[in-house]
Amino acid sequence: MNTEQKLNSIVPWGRNLEEYRQIFSLSKEDLQKKILGCGDGPSSFNAELTARGGEITSIDPIYKFTKEQLTKRIDEVSVEVMGMVRQYSSNFVWKNIKNPDELESIRMSAMRRFLADYEQGLEQKRYRFEMLPSLSFEDRSFDLALSSHFLFLYSEHLDFEFHLNSILEMLRVAEEVRIFPLMTLNNIYSPHLDKVREVLAKRGYTSEIIKTEYEFQQGADEMMKVYRGTN
Ligand SMILES: C[S@@+](CC[C@H](N)C(=O)[O-])C[C@H]1O[C@@H](n2cnc3c(N)ncnc32)[C@H](O)[C@@H]1O
Repeated sequence: MNTEQKLNSIVPWGRNLEEYRQIFSLSKEDLQKKILGCGDGPSSFNAELTARGGEITSIDPIYKFTKEQLTKRIDEVSVEVMGMVRQYSSNFVWKNIKNPDELESIRMSAMRRFLADYEQGLEQKRYRFEMLPSLSFEDRSFDLALSSHFLFLYSEHLDFEFHLNSILEMLRVAEEVRIFPLMTLNNIYSPHLDKVREVLAKRGYTSEIIKTEYEFQQGADEMMKVYRGTN
């Protein structure tokens, strides 16, 4: 994946707060923590959590674009993506989301919610144009750093070093890191997963694989939780 993205090469696609809650097994207490979303893109997690009084900052390279640019790109991309989903619908698990029509409605309302909040969020520095593996925040600025559908998923495009450095950077700025899914776009476990866990263990971090209630991509129903020490 080219992290120096051009508008016509990005595929903005975003989930909502309820999906993030299921993906990361977020408890009521977790949602009150200071959260950093890495690669939140056009998801409505930030908008919805902010509206509920949560403390959330999202970073993503797409936040360099204007609301108009992102709106146009989301409209273009949604037609293509939904066409593919309908064509290959048997490749997905219709459990949490019942069918392609429901998927389209959930995704489009999440992205509209994001767009409605985007300019205010930029002003309030809740949306920041930053990219892993390097973040501008002070050490331990957050309680929890999340990566939904970015790390591990694109393991065919992003190498081991990128993954390790990104996770260590997230652990520098946050007490705990959660990543979902652990599988690549080809529905296999990320080839980086075991090696990353080994290095983290050597550096004194604990990593746990936790089954979640969310599954859309076949077999991708686990997240990784990482924290300092042994809890
Ligand atoms: C598939 S989307 C997931 C969006 C959202 N997290 C969700 O689950 O709905 C992946 C996101 O990762 C972002 N991304 C790409 N390169 C990145 C980088 N180096 N650091 C952080 N985010 C990046 C993309 O712009 C995109 O918004």
